[in-house]
Amino acid sequence: MSHAPSDFADVGGAYAAYSSGGRGRLRHDITARRVLAELGGGPARVLDVGCGDGEMVWRLAAAGHQVTGVERSAGMLSAAAERIAAAPELAERVTLVEGDIDALPFADDSFDAVCCHSVVMYLPDSIAPTAHFFGGSGGI
Ligand SMILES: C[S@@+](CC[C@H](N)C(=O)[O-])C[C@H]1O[C@@H](n2cnc3c(N)ncnc32)[C@H](O)[C@@H]1O
Repeated sequence: MSHAPSDFADVGGAYAAYSSGGRGRLRHDITARRVLAELGGGPARVLDVGCGDGEMVWRLAAAGHQVTGVERSAGMLSAAAERIAAAPELAERVTLVEGDIDALPFADDSFDAVCCHSVVMYLPDSIAPTAHFFGGSGGI
């Protein structure tokens, strides 16, 4: 059983250190390679739920996609905003929203793909909040 921090910002420094270490880099590299392969060439509208400090938001936007990152923790969202601010050329392709996976403020068919990586294991019910992602019109 995983132990979830009540706010990832409380462990934000440790999480950033893990992410930039060998194991974290490998995880992000594998995830990004897989997600980017699924997205194909054209710019896609991607929702990254539980985007944390914005690693995948940054990678997907750098590849040309239009990315909306949603994050429950204000501290993690702020770290994501700092990451994007350091790459101003990406800003027009990135939207960051504070919010919860249980109450996403978007209309149906707003996105072509949803990325929700390393998040559902921290939810009390990992199926219900994500089920509606896959009920749409053929998105990823
Ligand atoms: C382990 S981190 C993963 C961050 C990012 N997806 C990544 O792969 O680097 C989990 C993130 O999910 C966020 N999170 C947890 N429960 C959430 C919820 N109900 N709604 C939105 N975000 C949530 C946490 O605040 C945390 O930033």
